[in-house]
Amino acid sequence: MGEVQAKRPSGRGRFITFEGGEGSGKSTQIKMLAERLSAAKLRTLVTREPGGSPGAEIMRHLVLSGMGKLLGPDAETLLFAAARDDHVRTVIQPALSQGTWVLCDRFFDSTRAYQGSLGSVPMGVIKAMQRVTIGDLKPDLTIILDVPVEVGLKRAAERRGNGTPDRFEGENLRFHEELRQAYRQIAAEDQQRCVLIDANADPETVAARVWKALRDHVFTLPTSAPTA
Ligand SMILES: Nc1ncnc2c1ncn2[C@@H]1O[C@H](COP(=O)(O)OP(=O)(O)O)[C@@H](O)[C@H]1O
Ligand SMILES: [Mg+2]
Repeated sequence: MGEVQAKRPSGRGRFITFEGGEGSGKSTQIKMLAERLSAAKLRTLVTREPGGSPGAEIMRHLVLSGMGKLLGPDAETLLFAAARDDHVRTVIQPALSQGTWVLCDRFFDSTRAYQGSLGSVPMGVIKAMQRVTIGDLKPDLTIILDVPVEVGLKRAAERRGNGTPDRFEGENLRFHEELRQAYRQIAAEDQQRCVLIDANADPETVAARVWKALRDHVFTLPTSAPTA
């Protein structure tokens, strides 16, 4: 893999988010990337949304149990926003300022896709909440894992075994197809930050694509032998 150096040589860590539908491979790829970064001697933290901090994990339980849906789309979005606020303030920002690389399983693009494009919450409201919860914090890179809906749902069902689908896994096929399109649109609209990755391949092949996206967007690899 060779030496890796961050493109912006500062003390701050890098913030990389993973997005995509159920079973697209986010958790699998985050784990593989964390191992690779750790091997490159970069301090790495893996976290997830909704959740990632003690306060936000409580809200994760509320939304994924379906409680948020009962409250209605606006209140459900506020629950996600409250969870994100806590997560950013108590976990993500402190880690980044200590130089740790933060890999986050879902972030604000999930809100845009699920509550914005697919839900009934106006984008203006979502952006206003975003200003409160994350302010200027923007991922250095967002990996969007793209798989055909049937492939993702089949993987998620196999992972689940006999368990019941969560709030979002339980939506219908059309929902998941629209979700895929919403993510593709986010990738197209923000090409500086987002890389859309074909994730319909074995995990190692997808990991190689993720690594290439990091090299293109976040790292510089020395082209010649490093000088002492
Ligand atoms: N590239 C892949 N090919 C086949 N199966 C995969 C691949 N990536 C992940 N899986 C399996 O599919 C299931 C869902 O993957 P996971 O990483 O949990 O997806 P997500 O976090 O996006 O929902 C898991 O059981 C995982 O082992
Ligand atoms: Mg996952």
